[in-house]
Amino acid sequence: MINLKNLQYQLWGLLIIALYACEPHSDEKDIVGASLVSLNYDQEISVKIDSILSIMTLEEKLGQLSQLNNAGDKHIDSTTVNAVRKGEVGSLLINRRSFYSIEERNFYQKLAVEESRLGIPIIFGHDVIHGFRTIFPTSLAQSSTWSPDLVEKGAEIAAREASAQGVDWAFAPMVDVARDPRWGRIAEGYGEDPYLNAVFGAAVVRGFQGKDVSAPDRVAACMKHYVGYGAAVGGRGKQFTDISKRTLHEVYLPPFKAGIEQGALTVMTAFNDINGTPATAYTYGIREVLKKDYGFQGFVVSDWDAVKHLLWHGIAADTTDAAQLALNAGVDMEMKTIFYKKLKEALAEGTVAIETIDDAVKRILYVKYKLGLFKRPYIEKDNTRELFLSDTHRKEARKMAAASMVLLQNNNDVLPVPSGTQSIAVVGAFAQERDVMGWWKSTGKFKDVITAFDGIKSNAAEGMEVTDKVTANTAYIIACVGEPSRFFGESRNRADITVPAEQVDFLKSLQKYKKPIVLVVFNGRPLDLSNVTDLTQAILLAWHPGTETGNALADVLFGQHNPYAKLTASFPRSVAQVPVYYSRRNSGNPNGNKYIDLSGEPLFPFGFGLSYTTFEYSSLKIEQAKMPVNGELKLSVIITNTGSKEGYEVAQLYVRDLVGSTTRPIKELKGFQKVLLAPGESKKVNFVLPTRELAVFNADFEPVIEPGKFYVWVAPNVTGGLKGEFEIAGNFNAQ
Ligand code: GLC
Repeated sequence: MINLKNLQYQLWGLLIIALYACEPHSDEKDIVGASLVSLNYDQEISVKIDSILSIMTLEEKLGQLSQLNNAGDKHIDSTTVNAVRKGEVGSLLINRRSFYSIEERNFYQKLAVEESRLGIPIIFGHDVIHGFRTIFPTSLAQSSTWSPDLVEKGAEIAAREASAQGVDWAFAPMVDVARDPRWGRIAEGYGEDPYLNAVFGAAVVRGFQGKDVSAPDRVAACMKHYVGYGAAVGGRGKQFTDISKRTLHEVYLPPFKAGIEQGALTVMTAFNDINGTPATAYTYGIREVLKKDYGFQGFVVSDWDAVKHLLWHGIAADTTDAAQLALNAGVDMEMKTIFYKKLKEALAEGTVAIETIDDAVKRILYVKYKLGLFKRPYIEKDNTRELFLSDTHRKEARKMAAASMVLLQNNNDVLPVPSGTQSIAVVGAFAQERDVMGWWKSTGKFKDVITAFDGIKSNAAEGMEVTDKVTANTAYIIACVGEPSRFFGESRNRADITVPAEQVDFLKSLQKYKKPIVLVVFNGRPLDLSNVTDLTQAILLAWHPGTETGNALADVLFGQHNPYAKLTASFPRSVAQVPVYYSRRNSGNPNGNKYIDLSGEPLFPFGFGLSYTTFEYSSLKIEQAKMPVNGELKLSVIITNTGSKEGYEVAQLYVRDLVGSTTRPIKELKGFQKVLLAPGESKKVNFVLPTRELAVFNADFEPVIEPGKFYVWVAPNVTGGLKGEFEIAGNFNAQ
């Protein structure tokens, strides 16, 4: 049976090719309100897109720019059904705690594909942040593994489970550099460092999209939140930001650039304003930087209601104004609100050009083609049963959770718990807590979670008694404290970042037993732990480890996993220090970086984490002490396992540019390596750092490599390590 719609597309396609061939086209087109860059899609997709576009009505075009949300948890509602049937919906999402069933999703897709005039498929979006049904550790926890391979694997599994139920598009990775632990969403990113956010953001894009994003078990990634959300003043949610252009380009933008270079198909704008311009109307950031400089060819979606927020920000006078501001700034799709319907008026008023609308439609159709939605719009087979919580998925989640747990204190080597221990007590508010899947747990279920107590009990050595209260036989007390998921995440900002007082009181009540206490902290954000360090021999940061919490915790406590995790965000001694992060600038009074009543240094620094063994760094060798501007820094160090257990060490590479055209941070992370060493074993660890990684932005914001001296460290964390020097000769524009 000839599909008339396809035939229509083909005919139009031939016509388009003919016209395309003779039409001169520039790289940029300035039209009212926006400057559009040319879209360089491959010919086959280009022709299809242009052929559809050429027969779309304005209503159908504006429909593609709209992402609707079902009212509450009611997944099928008449408003949505009617809009989809009329071809006026480009995308659908539902709230963070659930997703459509396969039947519901296919129901909507059939309306779009078989009942709307043009049959353009819907793209279904969902917050797949760290798992879909098998929930992995929160993102800040994942970054503490310093293992992009594990993070990529976790994203791949999340994509496999999510796509099986009909998710085409995951609203992740969140790569907002965050340096304020009061901010609830610091838990959702990859810490305080731009380089690590770039490394892990790119790993998630690879895991989600794979080599062919049209494969049935892949989803489109979404770099968010563009840009500078983590700089919300006071760590208060969606507050305004003041970000210098240099900080914008050297701190907040690099993770997005890395994600675009990795092929991320979408970007989501942030709620905050950047120096007075809301991110959802940020023409400079979206059109100039993202779409022109970074060459981004996918589409930009607003955050939830963020187009409406332009009224509250105070830059849009009404809904039509908000719509034209957002579209002209480069926001191609509007999430949740339907102000983009007003673009019809804006078109008539001349504040928006049809080319801008067409550009947005093309970008959205492009992503739908790349995802294979035109070829395979439906979920044809339900394999969720064998996929969800499969042994393989649970095993990977357990491995990642154990690898994310940071050992911050281990006085007298109380950990690992000796296998001959007769009896341990697992107590505290989080001992049997199932709410340890973070704030964005998608379709994760509390009933799936292995609690700390259950995991420890089921993995304990033969003959070891595990009790839920301290008894006369108790040899070890495992005290489980932490933050419930309602304490962090979106709009969950805290002014007090200590362990909740009643949990500290509980910890104090345990002192009377005079037994070794191991404190396990189920935190979302970096906490001020200064009031618990003296109440316990050991501190293990468990974060919110997800579905496999108890098994992973047992693996670490009993030594099956020797911890190698390290902090990717500084843990302050007090909230009064905030913001406190490692890559600060030196200032003219470096010794003044403190208070009269408190140090200026964090309690636990960036890159810090202990192991059950010890490591020694020696013989730092720099191959060329002086190198040309387009050279490479090659250096090596010997790392020795000087303890009694096999373990990984994460060696970090930091540099400092001693004299620049602007003041430079006292240290910047530029690389790391994870090396496995048996007891007594030494290995030579090599680093190669191309000088282009040392580029900075000059006064005109061109990337340049400036000549001069640098310090370099290879270190176990940001405060220690072996230090060397090298020099770059000559100047070089790093374009
Ligand atoms: C939320 C969040 C964003 C999320 C979106 C859809 O407000 O800011 O991260 O992806 O809405 O749930």
